[in-house]
Amino acid sequence: MIARLINLPKIEDPRGNLSFVEENNHIPFKIERIYWIYDVPGGQIRGGHAFKKQQEFIIALSGSFDVVVNSGSEKKRFHLNRSYSGLFIENGIWRHMDNFSTNSVALVLSSTFYSEEDYIRDFKQFLKWHKA
Ligand code: TYD
Repeated sequence: MIARLINLPKIEDPRGNLSFVEENNHIPFKIERIYWIYDVPGGQIRGGHAFKKQQEFIIALSGSFDVVVNSGSEKKRFHLNRSYSGLFIENGIWRHMDNFSTNSVALVLSSTFYSEEDYIRDFKQFLKWHKA
């Protein structure tokens, strides 16, 4: 399994729904960083790379988009469009995001601080790294 969808608690309320996520509980890592991607112009692609160490959990807080994950031997596309569900991605997986709807917001919970050394930005290099 190179990535899996995790449903979060959803507290339904006529005043508006509420969801939450707890580290090492709903998701299997400690959160060291949170970032979000927004104002994505139609047709744009984000996040085409892999991480050596970072594990992550991606939620479509608003709107929808696709996350495409690739282990080098297996490729899968996930459509995220619920505020109470997210995609957990192990380290060592190539991934990109596309098909962003207008006003969508991608929230990313990360297991590591930002480190450019953790990125593999070249797909051929990723395949080599993966086999090594
Ligand atoms: P990047 O992860 O490369 O996004 P994409 O693959 O979609 O282009 O991030 C874009 C830029 O933002 C890059 O220069 C690094 C910087 N950045 C940070 O400084 N801190 C962060 O937490 C993140 C995610 C990116």
